[in-house]
Amino acid sequence: MSVTVAKTAGFCFGVRRAVDLAEQQTRQGGEIYAYGEIIHNMHEIARLEKMGVHTAQTLDGIPDGERVLIRAHGVARSVYDAFRQKNCEIYDATCPFVQKIHRIVDRESRDGRLVLILGKEGHPEVEGIRGWCSESVVIDGEQAAQTFADALEPASRPVSLVAQTTVNRAIWNISVSILKKRCTNLKIFDTICKATDERQSEARLLAGASDQMIVIGDRKSSNTKRLYEISRSLCRNVLYIEDAAELTTQELLRTGNIGITAGASTPAWIIKEVSNMMSDEIKIENGEDFAAMLEES
Ligand code: F3S
Repeated sequence: MSVTVAKTAGFCFGVRRAVDLAEQQTRQGGEIYAYGEIIHNMHEIARLEKMGVHTAQTLDGIPDGERVLIRAHGVARSVYDAFRQKNCEIYDATCPFVQKIHRIVDRESRDGRLVLILGKEGHPEVEGIRGWCSESVVIDGEQAAQTFADALEPASRPVSLVAQTTVNRAIWNISVSILKKRCTNLKIFDTICKATDERQSEARLLAGASDQMIVIGDRKSSNTKRLYEISRSLCRNVLYIEDAAELTTQELLRTGNIGITAGASTPAWIIKEVSNMMSDEIKIENGEDFAAMLEES
């Protein structure tokens, strides 16, 4: 049996930055509140909570004048206004790639265009993006793209298309080709994050060459779900686990090639626990890279 850990498994740049900012603030002492879960990983949230980062799900859950951390997914413009009203000190961990989408949709809205977002309705990142648009519609895939296109009047208003950063590249490509056929005034902004692209491409390669894939990440994490779907399309035997403990309840293959990948919000220490649970005798490909990644994290 051989085990290969994807080089792209674990924290992306934006999540690393958010967690670093949270840790940095805890070193100043006192309370700090994250508005919503800072990242989609319950283990990491529990670790940060112990360090003094409290998660508040509503604006009212954050007392006036406190320090507040905006998560990597970003928030609507109105949320910044609300925190200013409450005299909160804002520490903004919105990923720069998400901030770029906010700037695009803000500008496109000011130009009178309808913003079309390919992503998951209700996901915090999508809700944040919507909060920078005058008018927006969310589509979750090719079927919704087709329905949207079919309902368009010939002289309909101009449309600007963006994507949630973690959208599956294949779904984006199909949706774009559907919309192009029907929307006469369509501007396309490919806002899928490069880290997402690389992680999905590597998962595709690894899944195609593996007898079993192990995908590690929180069940609320969109990008982990995408990795699971991609792996499932190329490998018959795929496990989706949140931590090493779950591995004991799953059927692990004892022969062949095993691939491991993890979502952008999965901390390196969980990936390490999982790989440690595999036999000591197995050869772990990318072992050196992974060890370096753990040191950096
Ligand atoms: Fe940012 Fe991309 Fe991560 S958008 S939060 S670097 S997945």
